[in-house]
Amino acid sequence: MDIEFDVKHGLEGVAVAISSISYVDGEKGELVYRGFKIEDLIENSTFEETSYLIWFGSLPNENELDFITTMLAKKRELPEEIVKMMNSFPKTSHPMEVLRSVVSLLGMFEKKDKSTFENAINLTAKIPTIIAYWYRIKNNLPLIHPRESLKHSENFLYMMFGSVPEHSSLFDKALILHAEQGMNASTFASTVTASTLSDIYSIITTAIGTLKGPLHGGANEKVLDMLEEIGNLENVEFYINDLINRKEKIMGFGHRIYKTYDPRAKILKNWIKDIFINKKIKYFEIALKVEEIVLNKFKEKKIYPNVDFYSGILYNYFGIPKDFFTPIFAMARIVGWTAHAMEYCKNNRIFRPKAIYNGPKNLKYKDVKGAE
Ligand code: CMC
Repeated sequence: MDIEFDVKHGLEGVAVAISSISYVDGEKGELVYRGFKIEDLIENSTFEETSYLIWFGSLPNENELDFITTMLAKKRELPEEIVKMMNSFPKTSHPMEVLRSVVSLLGMFEKKDKSTFENAINLTAKIPTIIAYWYRIKNNLPLIHPRESLKHSENFLYMMFGSVPEHSSLFDKALILHAEQGMNASTFASTVTASTLSDIYSIITTAIGTLKGPLHGGANEKVLDMLEEIGNLENVEFYINDLINRKEKIMGFGHRIYKTYDPRAKILKNWIKDIFINKKIKYFEIALKVEEIVLNKFKEKKIYPNVDFYSGILYNYFGIPKDFFTPIFAMARIVGWTAHAMEYCKNNRIFRPKAIYNGPKNLKYKDVKGAE
């Protein structure tokens, strides 16, 4: 069969949209949201302010910041029926399964006449509540209801643990780091759903399902699995060499775009290093050794730590269990998902690529008894 193959495997290098939301320089290791370097944003901004920037394209003035902060604070509570249903979910359910399902359920309970932007804020406000409520339900703990007076990130930690811990501003900054990253797999998947003019709950359910995979957001949980399995510094070399010999992927390393150190991984590592000066942080030394070995082995392939390598160590420091790491990624990335869906739909065209067929074409039908 003579077929001319013209397939971009994994759509590498294929542009599917024109966007002014973020820019990634994979050679220099730079990430820019709406013209602002993330280093600048984590230094000077908050998750609320950065969300406004990503959604609206410019930094908010005082009134606008007040508006977004208030909206995000007022929409946190979940419908009672949803909380009742969550109480009946199997306690073994993974938090990403719960998040995916509850976002989908919410679509049946929320008013349908809101603008896409109102819907985006509403879901962004509710996702931390879904995650924290599930943590409390799973662990047979009483629910802690959201507090309007707290910032988005502080309120999440408060709903999880009943207080706002030391270094909570780092958690806020970690959300900023995860809020947006161009046409990654989950953003692409949700943009495809948006391009069919589907609703926001379907768009975000698609995104969550895609983020869950271990090659994407699910990698942060897998990194902690790996660090736990390694257990101590002496085991690192054997463990990593064994993975490499078996040609297995090392979780938290590699990236389609970054061919140098992921700037987000660099920032997370430096924060942990700063805390580590005074306090021992679990798995940090093991992680540093893993990094050293991987960088050495894969110099030519340009494989560096990505955002998922160090994020889990920080979340673990806050007492967050590893199966909640990817939901936290979703809690931030919803801003990017919704911004891209809204931007794409301004100049919408349904996504409909093609597959090149390489199967037979002239088979003759036979019934189950073999008769033609
Ligand atoms: N460990 C070992 N080898 C690797 C790794 C890794 N983590 N990543 C890439 N490689 C090798 C790969 O085997 C291939 O080698 P060869 O050319 O000899 O076949 C080469 O590097 C290119 O890799 P690829 O898989 O074709 O690259 P990709 O752009 O298709 O995939 C990736 C990117 C992120 C899926 C991949 O690097 C990976 O699987 N990493 C581990 C999972 C992970 O950490 N994911 C998080 C990604 S970043 C944040 C996010 O999206 O959540």
